[in-house]
Amino acid sequence: MHETDAARCAELENQLFDGDDPWPDFAFVRELAAPHNRYVAARVDDKLVGYAGISRLGRKPPFEYEIHTVGVDPAYQGHGIGRQMMTELLDAIGPDSVVYLEVRTDNEPAIALYASLGFKKVGVRKRYYRVSGADAYTMRRDPVK
Ligand SMILES: CC(C)(COP(=O)(O)OP(=O)(O)OC[C@H]1O[C@@H](n2cnc3c(N)ncnc32)[C@H](O)[C@@H]1OP(=O)(O)O)[C@@H](O)C(=O)NCCC(=O)NCCS
Repeated sequence: MHETDAARCAELENQLFDGDDPWPDFAFVRELAAPHNRYVAARVDDKLVGYAGISRLGRKPPFEYEIHTVGVDPAYQGHGIGRQMMTELLDAIGPDSVVYLEVRTDNEPAIALYASLGFKKVGVRKRYYRVSGADAYTMRRDPVK
């Protein structure tokens, strides 16, 4: 993903996370610039239709990671794009690290995607989403043996 994609990502955020604090373009610019983050974009005919990001936590190994975000343009959902982006991020960090994420407890498509990639529910965070007040599951993927 490039800095020039930030506005399009913010546009998709508004569509996908309306009512849940969608990230503005400058948040994408800031996160992209951070060396401990990795972001990928999915494109169809040069149009950005998906984005996903992961962040490395801490300063010293062994590192843990956190999925920041994943979103696919509604017109392109259900065609394997979300899975492909998640797989790319997880492959990039390798099998040896713990990865966390938060997901709304009512977000069945995302929970199914994460579960299929080895994430397990490890807790509930009440009213994690400030604006809507929705609860989140914390999900964790343990190192792949
Ligand atoms: C979650 C999201 C990123 C998935 O992207 P996608 O490209 O539509 O997903 P894929 O086509 O790659 O499907 C991957 C898996 O997700 C799950 N999934 C996708 N759509 C689903 C649906 N409507 N119902 C149930 N499970 C679904 C399935 O497990 C699927 O695997 P399968 O195809 O082997 O059955 C997408 O739905 C999205 O952008 N949602 C809105 C934003 C969001 O909620 N992001 C996650 C925030 S934590």
